[in-house]
Order: sequence, then structure tokens, then C-alpha cells
Amino acid sequence: MKKILTAILTASIIALSSPAWSNDDALTSNNGGVSSLRGLYEISDVNKAEDLKRVQREQQLIDRNYVQQPPMIPHSIRGYQVNLNANKCLACHSFKNAGEMGATKISVTHFETRSGTTLSDVSPRRYFCLQCHVTQADAKPLVENTFTPVHSLR
Ligand code: HEC
Ligand code: HEC
Repeated sequence: MKKILTAILTASIIALSSPAWSNDDALTSNNGGVSSLRGLYEISDVNKAEDLKRVQREQQLIDRNYVQQPPMIPHSIRGYQVNLNANKCLACHSFKNAGEMGATKISVTHFETRSGTTLSDVSPRRYFCLQCHVTQADAKPLVENTFTPVHSLR
């Protein structure tokens, strides 16, 4: 009896410890062995998401690096919805509300359509604010960047 048990145990240990394919095959089966910015991962693999960065409640606005840069958002935006029915950002940043809320007005470029027509309200292409504006956080650059602003902005 003891012998049979030992045999079963040994067999299952062997079965469990030998993978169905070797690690090397797995790494090259659908990425061609090419490592991307996220590392040598299977294309189908979902890699672990970065932890969310902490956004401070009160912050200094980080200077823009170039004139056309969308300014960063110097405040928390948790719970601010932007969808078909409502745009929380415009509750403070629209021309109508900015004065009262003490917020910066959206600039005139936000009323222009792609073809250069100026509308009487925010242009659809500027409606989803977070497409361009992001909150400020102490985040390490993902890739090295040697960009320096032009002299007049330094
Ligand atoms: C409750 C009012 C309020 C809401 C809602 C709000 N903001 Fe603001 N925002 C402000 C105020 C006030 C400032 C001025 C800077 C400060 O004191 O934080 C500001 C600053 C900014 C700036 C910097 C502008 C500059 O001076 O260059 C950006 C960009 C911005 N907000 C984007 C957004 C976006 C995008 C949303 C929606 C996700 C949003 N804000 C929602 C009040 C608001
Ligand atoms: C397609 C990109 C884009 C979208 C979408 C967009 N912005 Fe901007 N925003 C910019 C750029 C670029 C600037 C700086 C140049 C300019 O004023 O056009 C800017 C400037 C601003 C400023 C500063 C204006 C000033 O006079 O200094 C505020 C405030 C702002 N945006 C708020 C918003 C809000 C609120 C929304 C959503 C309703 C929004 N933006 C949507 C690109 C965008």
C-alpha cells in the first residue's frame, strides 16, 4: 500500500513540475521573440497595470514646455464626469462659469471646429477634456527624453 502511495505521489510531482511547453517556446510563440516597451511578453498577455499615481489636492501648476501644450490639471478630478449628458469640467471652466468659480476660462481655440469655423459653444473636438489635459503627478518618464523648451520659454 505504502509503495503504491509513494508511486502515485512521485508520478503527480513529476506531472505537476513539467510544464506543457518550455518557457522559451512560450516567449517566442506569438511575439516573434521581439521585446516591446512593456518587455518580452506574449501579445495576448495582460501585464500588471501600474498603480494609480496619487494626485495631490492642492498643487502648483507645472509650467508648460511649449506654447501649444495643453496645460496640466493642477487639481484632483476624482468623480468628475464627462459624458453625453454632462461635462463637469465646464461647470467651472466655461466662459459662463469661470469667473464665478475662480477657474481659468477655456481658450478661444476650444470653440473652433476642424475646418476653422468658430462655434458659440465648445467644439465637439474639444469636448472630452481628458483627451489632452492630464492631472499632475510625480511620474518617471517611460522613455528617455532630451526635449528642452526654446529660449524664449526658459
Ligand atoms: C470645481 C471647479 C472645477 C472643476 C469641476 C474643474 N476645474 Fe480645473 N481648475 C479649477 C480652478 C479653480 C483652477 C485654477 C487653478 C487651481 O487653483 O487649482 C483650475 C485649473 C485647471 C487647469 C489649468 C489651467 C491653467 O491655468 O493653465 C486645467 C487645464 C484644468 N483646470 C482642467 C480641468 C479639467 C479637464 C476638468 C474636468 C476633468 C476640470 N479642470 C474641472 C476649477 C475646476
Ligand atoms: C484636442 C485637445 C484639447 C481638448 C480636447 C481640450 N483642450 Fe484645453 N487646451 C488644449 C491646448 C492645446 C491648450 C493650450 C493652447 C490653447 O489655448 O489652445 C488648452 C488650454 C486650456 C486652458 C487654458 C486656457 C488659457 O487661456 O490659458 C484651459 C482652462 C483648458 N484648456 C480647459 C479645457 C477643458 C475644460 C476642456 C474640455 C471641455 C478642454 N480644455 C479640452 C487642448 C485641448
